[in-house]
Amino acid sequence: MVQEARRMQGYGSDFIKEMFAAAKNPDMISFAGGAPAPELYALEAFRAASDKAFDIHGRTIMAYDGAYGVAALREFIASQWMPRTGVNITADDLLILSGSQQGIDYAARLYLDEGDTVIVEHPSYLGALNTFSALRANYVSVDTDTDGMRMDALEEALIANPEAKLIYTVPDFQNPTGITLAEDRRRKMVELAEQYDVMIIEDSPYYEIRFEGDFIPAIKSFDKADRVIYLGSFSKTLCPGIRLGWVVASKAVIERYRVLKEATDFQAGTVAQYQAATFLADYSLDEHLKTSRDVYRGRRDAALAAIKETFPEDVTCTRPEGGYFIWVEAPGINATEMVVYAMNEIGVAYVPGESFYASEPRVDTLRLSYSQMTEDKIGEGIGRLGRLLKEARS
Ligand SMILES: Cc1ncc(COP(=O)(O)O)c(C=O)c1O
Repeated sequence: MVQEARRMQGYGSDFIKEMFAAAKNPDMISFAGGAPAPELYALEAFRAASDKAFDIHGRTIMAYDGAYGVAALREFIASQWMPRTGVNITADDLLILSGSQQGIDYAARLYLDEGDTVIVEHPSYLGALNTFSALRANYVSVDTDTDGMRMDALEEALIANPEAKLIYTVPDFQNPTGITLAEDRRRKMVELAEQYDVMIIEDSPYYEIRFEGDFIPAIKSFDKADRVIYLGSFSKTLCPGIRLGWVVASKAVIERYRVLKEATDFQAGTVAQYQAATFLADYSLDEHLKTSRDVYRGRRDAALAAIKETFPEDVTCTRPEGGYFIWVEAPGINATEMVVYAMNEIGVAYVPGESFYASEPRVDTLRLSYSQMTEDKIGEGIGRLGRLLKEARS
């Protein structure tokens, strides 16, 4: 038997596979996946845009284009999308990725040798932890509260770990907690990054899914010293199947991403990029986002109401102002053990919180995603979970 590379030991659990499987089972009430509501996909408009793209650009669409990405798409992101986050750039300040997950992987490859330190939220996004673990990174976890990562705790971590190279954060409606980083903390994070010489990976695929409260400018918008690598994605707003995301960073970092892109998959698919660029040029993004926000607000409300009504009183949860996720803390419950019973016996799936911790995992936590279930199903599924939580106590 040929020995696998050592780094394979770092690749994590099978949770992602199980989440995809749970989401595909029509009998399951699944709060597991982090994907959009399929009925929100703009199927007909996308099909029409796709035909139009082929009509206009013909065989160009089917050819290689280059690692930076198709100019029309980069220009749309630079001129129409990023300004909404308070970041003003040109098309040369970004590169198109095959999903933002790739941008996390590239940041890790760019900065982390085996054993190098990355600072993460406690808890953090499972997909990023998978990537960092594969490169055998060392973790330092920083506590969060209802305003996101605590800056006093971050500074302590930076002082205690002067060799740290990266801070990884999901500032908007975080996966898995749904919590958003307050504006003053965004400014402070940039200051700390400069002071302690680290880079920030700002991973923000949910930014536009705000259905309550005011938009908070991206961390990148406060970045005067090129400390922030911003990752955007169309997966949560348009559709994940298109596999398109982007990175905004200094020209020097974009050049390193270009090298990484050429060394891994050359470029994001030209067909998908032209389809997206044509679709975005013709379609009303604002209207689409408004509909999406209304749907997700309704689902969040349905989930919170059902939690209030059916969960035991000492079980607490977050109240997201956007995105897809509610984080639940259920003292005395082992959510990792309970999920097997929940899936097999009551037909409800969620993701045990344990998998989102880089260190000191808490088994009494779980992530509920309300994005893909109708309000009725949410009420029914949370009701079943509530009964299970009560039974598990008695
Ligand atoms: C925080 C976060 N970052 C990145 C991703 C990956 O998104 P993409 O489909 O753009 O690769 C996800 C998807 O769940 C996510 O939640």
